[in-house]
Amino acid sequence: MTLLDVRGLSAAYGDVQALHGIDLRVDKAEVVAVLGANGAGKSTLLKTIVGQVRATGGTVQLAGVDISSVSPDQAIRHGITLCPEGRRLFPEMTVAENIRVGAHTVKDGQTLERRMQVLRHMFPKLVDRARQLAGQLSGGEQQMVAIARALVSEPRLLLLDEPTLGLAPKMIHEVARLVKLINAEGTAVILVEQNAKLALKIADRGYVLENGLVSTAGTSAELLANDHVQKIYLGG
Ligand SMILES: Nc1ncnc2c1ncn2[C@@H]1O[C@H](COP(=O)(O)OP(=O)(O)OP(=O)(O)O)[C@@H](O)[C@H]1O
Ligand SMILES: [Mg+2]
Repeated sequence: MTLLDVRGLSAAYGDVQALHGIDLRVDKAEVVAVLGANGAGKSTLLKTIVGQVRATGGTVQLAGVDISSVSPDQAIRHGITLCPEGRRLFPEMTVAENIRVGAHTVKDGQTLERRMQVLRHMFPKLVDRARQLAGQLSGGEQQMVAIARALVSEPRLLLLDEPTLGLAPKMIHEVARLVKLINAEGTAVILVEQNAKLALKIADRGYVLENGLVSTAGTSAELLANDHVQKIYLGG
């Protein structure tokens, strides 16, 4: 069943056209990788899906509902949450406070407490750190806080923008394990990664973006076997 259906999506920053008509689909409980070089338009694609960047053309549907011109808050209410590139935590706020920022659309205290309980199980290491300032954590720990903050709204679709960027190998492995766990619990994921090998290991399917266009798409196995993908993104 199709969860997210993006058709002909375009976006621009002033005169700079960043997306030139992207078609992309995510099925229910699927992990989809989005690969591409710096400046290809990966972050813009995610930001446009959640309404942080206004689309100049095309449509976005979530489970058959048109969400093409929603605000980021409305996108969260519809069930799509973006975990942004560079984590974007508030360094002077505690871990717990940062996670609660992601819950600002959750009005009911009981619902919030139930979700925090789920997160405490999923991120046991963050429980000990709840009162620590986010800015004092390691990069990997900060990434975990950013993912927890995105999950507190209980998205149907989680958009992860470069979650392993700058992390040590052990933490990259931990993020990969977490993405699989999140997906196993029923959440669909779009995983934007420079680390194509890792992304295609986790994902069911993938899309390659080049200059704001989808150049190649297929199952992870197809992309891993694709000559162009191997040469440009998998280091030969
Ligand atoms: N706020 C902005 N203002 C103007 N141009 C922008 C802005 N953000 C991105 N761009 C431009 O849009 C294009 C796509 O950028 P985007 O950040 O989406 O790429 P990306 O694939 O996420 O790259 P990276 O791998 O470096 O994160 C680039 O040419 C970039 O310079
Ligand atoms: Mg980016």
